[in-house]
Amino acid sequence: MSITPVICGFGHYAPEKIVSNQDLEKLVDTSDEWITTRTGIKQRHIVVPGEQSSSDLALEASKMALADAGLSPKDLTHILFATLTPDTYCPSAACYLEQKLGVRGLMAMDLNAACSGFLYSLQTARAMVALDPDAVVLVAASEVLSSRVNWTDRSTCVLFGDGSGAAVVTADTGAGKAQVLDLILGSDGNLTDLLLIPAGGSRFPLELGGTVDKESYIQLNGPDVFKHAVREMEAITNTLLEKNGLAVEDIDLFVPHQANVRIIDALAKRVGVPPEKVFVNIDRYGNTSAASVPIALSDALQQNAIQPGMRILITTFGAGFTWGSCILQF
Ligand code: ACO
Repeated sequence: MSITPVICGFGHYAPEKIVSNQDLEKLVDTSDEWITTRTGIKQRHIVVPGEQSSSDLALEASKMALADAGLSPKDLTHILFATLTPDTYCPSAACYLEQKLGVRGLMAMDLNAACSGFLYSLQTARAMVALDPDAVVLVAASEVLSSRVNWTDRSTCVLFGDGSGAAVVTADTGAGKAQVLDLILGSDGNLTDLLLIPAGGSRFPLELGGTVDKESYIQLNGPDVFKHAVREMEAITNTLLEKNGLAVEDIDLFVPHQANVRIIDALAKRVGVPPEKVFVNIDRYGNTSAASVPIALSDALQQNAIQPGMRILITTFGAGFTWGSCILQF
């Protein structure tokens, strides 16, 4: 018997502090006009350094998702934590989140697929539910990207924001809000150097007493990433629609990864989704990497942009490169 996994609760959270484009004008040689027209971003939420970690943000989103599902932390069996900015290199952010939720004994682990982390974790959650129909899986995606942004580099520091999103995944018992109809993923490890944090891992280990330089922060080749993002997101979206015998007209709302409004516009145009069916909130959050999609889903639900009966298409792209596409039936 095949088990249809469902998402039975959604949540999101962003730190209180807002950094506007005007604030960034005081930090680097940039302008609100450049950032708005090139990216669509007007502001981003940023933690006060040292006050909140990724698991702190994830805790708030997870509490909201659990409340939405009518569940409590003690109902959980698994925690999957999508992030590229965990609290510490070791142990995992999932273990910190487990502790903050006041539970123990769960299978808890991190998963790094950069901006595609939520869909990679959702796929893993589907596998957990297929292995055990009683599984109650918390998928938390949370980033404190501000900790890995070079605040003197105008070409990257304007792009990113901090935030978290969460979803609770179970087998379908009739209480779900959205069925995961299908989900496919891909990657290409030939292009790792186009978007990365070079130092701090085993490739360029930290040196005792060494100085932190720009190699410890996010570096990207913007124009190349842009081209690959549009191309791969278009390809996987069309593959998923074809695989499920769906036309783009069968989709009620498109929720793409929020990296750049020009990427979103180009992708929607190529796939054939009209602008009124595309959900965009990058203006308020910036690019929150793994958290971008679950924040967008929870935000869209709060705004009633997603209603019962709607079929939602999600597509992501991130460092690696990694990509994915998913259809949710609400
Ligand atoms: N303010 C003012 N000028 C700037 C800024 C800034 N913040 N940043 C760059 N510029 C300048 C550049 O120096 C360059 O100047 P020059 O022509 O004198 O050399 C000019 O603006 C154009 O720079 P480009 O990099 O060519 O600008 P582009 O239009 O490609 O936009 C951007 C850059 C926004 C990064 C875009 O390429 C992009 O969004 N790329 C993909 C997004 C991305 O990498 N996201 C990371 C995660 S992966 C993902 O989420 C898909």
